[in-house]
Amino acid sequence: MAADLSTVYTGIRFENPFMLASAPPTESDSNIMRAFEAGWGGVVTKTIGLHPVVNVKGPKTKFLRADNGDSRLSMSKRPDTTLIASWNWELISDKPLDWWIGRLSRIKRQYPDKVLVASIMAGSGNDKELHNWQTLTKACQDEGADALELNFSCPHMDRVDMGSNVGKDKVLCSVVTQAVKEVARVPVWVKLTPATANIVEEAEACFVGGADAISSSNTFPSLPLVDPQTLEFEMNVEGYVSPGGLGGPAILPLSLAKMAQMTKAFPDRAFSGIGGVSSFDHALSYFLLGCGTVQVCTAAMLDQAIGPNVIRKLISGMTEFLERNAHRGWSRLEDFRGLKRDAVVAHSQIKRPDEREYHGGYEEEAEGYARPEKVSS
Ligand SMILES: Cc1cc2nc3c(=O)[nH]c(=O)nc-3n(C[C@H](O)[C@H](O)[C@H](O)COP(=O)(O)O)c2cc1C
Repeated sequence: MAADLSTVYTGIRFENPFMLASAPPTESDSNIMRAFEAGWGGVVTKTIGLHPVVNVKGPKTKFLRADNGDSRLSMSKRPDTTLIASWNWELISDKPLDWWIGRLSRIKRQYPDKVLVASIMAGSGNDKELHNWQTLTKACQDEGADALELNFSCPHMDRVDMGSNVGKDKVLCSVVTQAVKEVARVPVWVKLTPATANIVEEAEACFVGGADAISSSNTFPSLPLVDPQTLEFEMNVEGYVSPGGLGGPAILPLSLAKMAQMTKAFPDRAFSGIGGVSSFDHALSYFLLGCGTVQVCTAAMLDQAIGPNVIRKLISGMTEFLERNAHRGWSRLEDFRGLKRDAVVAHSQIKRPDEREYHGGYEEEAEGYARPEKVSS
């Protein structure tokens, strides 16, 4: 059977399961339309709020790179390096809801077969704030958004009732999701913060509130390194820094661990994998854990701002993967989605060597360990 990249996720048909995440690649209608032309199956808009925000002075995002063949890690732009991570302290869209009205509907009219998800955020401290979530919900769905993604995960919010502070509070997770669900006519996805002890608890709270899917991860809380020459943080404003978010290759294994916890706890629920994806091989790990879509930010930012080469590679990678595995009867994502979910188990369930073979873990030479000592019997 020919490879079929299309999929249905939370009841929405996607021509392929690859989306641009809520971030600079989706901060404008022109970017989003370029992304659709390039082949992305869907986009999540940069998070829309009711009120204008003002970003810090100077750069909002930089990229941490390692010198090839050396230990130097730095954000300074230089040749012969490998990307480790993005680091940002960018706030949500600096364009308020009014700016997006008219633009969202125009995008949807021009690209009816592409999936347009509106990311939204408000406070949650009182009824007025919960009402703001409902205002955003109604406005975006009236514009034709196919789904909503609630941002419970922005890592740099001082307000205790916003962003990742919502995602860290199970009660708020349920209450806000429920408030949105009261007025939503389209599927409601929730994007959770990875900065909690047990993300399964927050995911459960969102499902109790009526969420149709969970997206994860947003960026991980982190600081830039200090430049050893200037003794300044590599990113600062007048000497000051505040925690921002780490994305890109460094967070792929971290985000997979969060995702595995959730897909194992809720194998029948919908999950969108985010974090460190730049090729199909990376996306595959999320799919094998049970994700129905994946989202990309950092890799797309570094590829002409919206990732035309990234999406080309994702599509060709998935097509080749399906062709290579056609003999197993696989022709679409559903044929292999979740296959590795049950291979993630408690540490105690991992096999130990037989007692007579056990030499304190020093059985063989292993990278990072001293040469095994001869064990006298
Ligand atoms: C500069 C920048 C801005 C971002 N803005 C948002 C945002 O407004 N809303 C949101 O939900 N996530 C935001 N994110 C998080 C990304 O959507 C994504 O979850 C994260 O970068 C991990 O994916 P990646 O490893 O592909 O970059 C932002 C990320 C970056 C780098």
